[in-house]
Amino acid sequence: MNYYGTEVIDVQQIKITNHLKDLGINNIRKEIIDGLKAEQKYISSKFFYDEKGSKLFEDITRLPEYYPTRTEKKLLKEIAPELMSNLHNIDIVEPGSGDCSKISILLQSIPIENLKTINYIPIDISHSAISESAQNLTEIFPDLSINGLVADFINQIELFQADNKRMFCFLGSTLGNFNEDVSNGFLINLSSIMHTGDTFLLGLDLVKPVHILHDAYNDSQNITAAFNKNILSVINNIIDSNFDIDDFEHKAFFNEQKSRIEMHLTAKEEMTITSPYTNSIISIKKGENIHTENSYKYSPEQIKKFEKTSGLTIKSMYTDPNKWFALVLFEKNI
Ligand code: SAH
Ligand code: AVI
Repeated sequence: MNYYGTEVIDVQQIKITNHLKDLGINNIRKEIIDGLKAEQKYISSKFFYDEKGSKLFEDITRLPEYYPTRTEKKLLKEIAPELMSNLHNIDIVEPGSGDCSKISILLQSIPIENLKTINYIPIDISHSAISESAQNLTEIFPDLSINGLVADFINQIELFQADNKRMFCFLGSTLGNFNEDVSNGFLINLSSIMHTGDTFLLGLDLVKPVHILHDAYNDSQNITAAFNKNILSVINNIIDSNFDIDDFEHKAFFNEQKSRIEMHLTAKEEMTITSPYTNSIISIKKGENIHTENSYKYSPEQIKKFEKTSGLTIKSMYTDPNKWFALVLFEKNI
């Protein structure tokens, strides 16, 4: 996450361009401070992902309790030949690409001669995730051209515009980290920049017994707790605030009514937070929560509604035998 520089890395098959500066660092600081001053304090989950946060997320994906990654990867392996073996002359665009290990599964099913005609466009707010994963990908797929964008896929969706034929992949149920208004807005905006015949593969986590959900966000090694608390270090760097991560406890629970896991940071003591970017202090009471993440869990009926929201058509929906995770393939028909 680098909101200052506009560096462009351009070596061999890899080009990475950082667009975060265009968001304006003052707007970013205001967004954070407004959240901390709100009645229910919150920090947007996009601030989890500095270099340390991206690494902690990768650690989460390997936890025995965190079923989504391994379930989705298994499903991707199964459907990759059907989806990818005829692809050529196309841009594959992946918002929230992270470590790129999932796209790598899909790319394995593209014949080598076709791979040369593919342009892969990972988009992620985490600069380290994009640059490290691009390096890894070129080692596995030396002929693939990679045009990475360090950008905010919610607020900079205009960067996705292009005339080329495209396949969009939005995996890991990252859509579920946004509330209904924002996720619907994302789907509408994405659909508006898609051309007839473009496809969109969306990974979504499904509703399941609460104890499985609870354990996935309350792991026994406390990696999720470390990931949650790291958001305060990221904030300290951006607004020069004085959060001490040891003053907070990780809290994650399933809100059944809203069908979402909520993550919060609960203050162990009363405290006063200051930042040179605001004149007033931020007071936090003992026991007060800062809401850091939602992770919506979907039903097939809710997924079906995305057709109407986006104007896209569901071509196929794939799920694992337990029905824990879904991969939904949409197509733009008009
Ligand atoms: N798709 C990967 C990573 C999921 S983690 C997987 O399924 O394993 C979510 C990813 O989205 C992170 O890499 C994070 O940096 C990125 N991200 C979150 N909010 C973002 C935003 N607003 N704009 C761009 N990237 C974002
Ligand atoms: C990236 N996102 C879909 C993850 C999730 O499950 O909501 C982030 C995460 N938060 C805690 N553990 C994993």
